[in-house]
Amino acid sequence: MSSELVIHVTGARPNFPKAAPVIRALEALGVAQELVHTGQHYDDAMAKVFFRQLALPQPDVDLGVGSGSHARQTAAIMTGLEELFLERRPALVVVYGDVNSTVGAALVAAKLGIAIAHVEAGLRSFDRTMPEEINRVVTDQLADLLFATSPDALTHLGNEGVRAGRVHFVGNPMIDTLLANLDRFDADQARRDHGLTGDYVVATLHRPGNVDDPADAAELVKAMHSVADLAEIVVPLHPRGRARLEAAGLFAHDRLRVIDPLGYVEFLGLVRGANAVVTDSGGVQEETTILGVPCLTLRPNTERPVTITHGTNRLVTRADLGFVASQVLSAGRSTDWPVPPLWDGKAGERIAAIIAAFVDGKGAAGEGRG
Ligand code: UD1
Ligand code: UDP
Repeated sequence: MSSELVIHVTGARPNFPKAAPVIRALEALGVAQELVHTGQHYDDAMAKVFFRQLALPQPDVDLGVGSGSHARQTAAIMTGLEELFLERRPALVVVYGDVNSTVGAALVAAKLGIAIAHVEAGLRSFDRTMPEEINRVVTDQLADLLFATSPDALTHLGNEGVRAGRVHFVGNPMIDTLLANLDRFDADQARRDHGLTGDYVVATLHRPGNVDDPADAAELVKAMHSVADLAEIVVPLHPRGRARLEAAGLFAHDRLRVIDPLGYVEFLGLVRGANAVVTDSGGVQEETTILGVPCLTLRPNTERPVTITHGTNRLVTRADLGFVASQVLSAGRSTDWPVPPLWDGKAGERIAAIIAAFVDGKGAAGEGRG
């Protein structure tokens, strides 16, 4: 018996805005699908709020894996998914981005002979100290359908020997979600909510390279305080590293406000009105590019160079942050900037059309085999 079921595997905050438009577009095509939440992220503000705000269907299965070391967390994801995939026998498993839930699902599906689609394939920082880079390389080697968000991804995948026929340049589903919700991002409301009257900066920080080591955290706090000397900063802080950043004195500046992670709509409302963003997030580099907000990325590299060539992003060291922020704040926001190709709000539809044809083909082949 052949299956035409598609199973989406999500788990961490950045997965949800990427999955939402794909699920919606597949629904419109009448494709049978189920949504798994691994539970890698589990706080309301890190997971459930996205289900509510993005009208994602409630997960059919929540594996509840929670936090742990890379091996423990990935193993829990794999064990849970193996049982599920054996029972449900999907025709295709769709994975998103570069988190542990992504690579765990890809490994399980590949070993069960289940086809894999990777949304956001081919991004490369060429920095294997980042767990995400390892997750990307492995997932792309195992995937049957690779959906690329930017042209550089096509080159990377070609260089790694991925057959061109498997790769589809479709645009960016995270930007679909951004554009679909643009009317809900209320910068004036955000100003009122946070009592902001003048220029302000929004910062998000969670990369191990910035927050895990106490020496890095201390340097980061110094850099953030140099920005707070220039303008108010609101930091919706990811739970990773919160304790370390607090211990390093992050909260000890009266123009720097640390708050809990925000819901998607509230976060982007705040970002929309900001004079600049300081971040080490992947998704935020992309969102600021479309919103036209200057983005200072506190990392030595980015797997999203298109946000530099076609956007508002630039890489900054912790040592240079204060100086660069002062330049950016005095220059003001530009009114005209290029936008990456195919970041047009239709990536989910393109992905869904390819997935629907793929599972249809599998179903037809299965029936043929009888
Ligand atoms: C993960 C991804 C990273 C992504 C980030 C997005 C991997 C390897 N990393 O990093 O690529 O950029 O998500 O946010 O998959 N925690 C909570 N509540 C939660 C979730 C996490 O308190 O709901 C805390 C726990 O202390 C946990 C820590 O955050 O140990 C890290 O969580 P984890 O999912 O392992 O990695 P992230 O740093 O969130
Ligand atoms: N985000 C959010 N609230 C916050 C911070 C981020 O909704 O307080 C959203 C952000 O808009 C983006 C996603 O979370 O859509 C990115 O997640 P994150 O930065 O955690 O992961 P990364 O993209 O770095 O993997």
